[in-house]
Amino acid sequence: MTTRRMRGLFLLLSVLSVVCDVASLKLNVTAIGARHGSSTLECWQLDNPFVVSDEPGTAGSAQVTLGEVANISYSLLPAKFDGGVHNAPHNQWVIFTSGLAFITLPDDKTTSAYVSGGEFGLIFAADTQDVSSKGHRTQYPGTVETVGIQIPTPGGTIPEHDVLHMGPCDVSEIAGIRGLGVGSSDSD
Ligand SMILES: *[C@@H]1O[C@H](CO)[C@@H](O)[C@H](O)[C@H]1NC(C)=O
Ligand SMILES: *[C@@H]1O[C@H](CO)[C@@H](O)[C@H](O)[C@H]1NC(C)=O
Repeated sequence: MTTRRMRGLFLLLSVLSVVCDVASLKLNVTAIGARHGSSTLECWQLDNPFVVSDEPGTAGSAQVTLGEVANISYSLLPAKFDGGVHNAPHNQWVIFTSGLAFITLPDDKTTSAYVSGGEFGLIFAADTQDVSSKGHRTQYPGTVETVGIQIPTPGGTIPEHDVLHMGPCDVSEIAGIRGLGVGSSDSD
């Protein structure tokens, strides 16, 4: 085999292994759920796997479709703001892009979650009034404001998922996405 052909083969193999890595990887997100009328924190694994995008601008990179959305709101929460105990107004994605949110549960003093704005700032809130009597409390204990982007799903749909465990996902369960950013060259 010529060197050129071998290079071509290596390239093909490494592209294939990226495709395999990506297709077997699923996103885990912390969710505010509800059981027996009380809000919970849960680690959900979304059924939809990552795929290799073929869209302009992201072609070749890992992408997972989060589904249909109804509308989008941008909230600016001051440092030390206390959102109080409340229900999720809708089943919705919340993306914290900066700052720090601290979520606690009125009926479970042993479970809480810090969500930092940024790379791991995506959660799903599903403890609407019809499933949770009190809801959850969100405080913003950081020293700077927190930006939260709320994105309800149409008709209150909840993304298909498995519950990995009760309690929030820990960073090691979300950090698999980092491998997608850097793993393409060392996987062969
Ligand atoms: C946003 O979508 C939710 C869920 O469909 C809906 O209940 C709400 O009224 C919408 N808000 C706005 C401002 O359109
Ligand atoms: C989701 O969790 C599973 C099980 O812990 C793990 O294998 C996978 O890498 C995680 N996904 C990401 C994107 O971190």
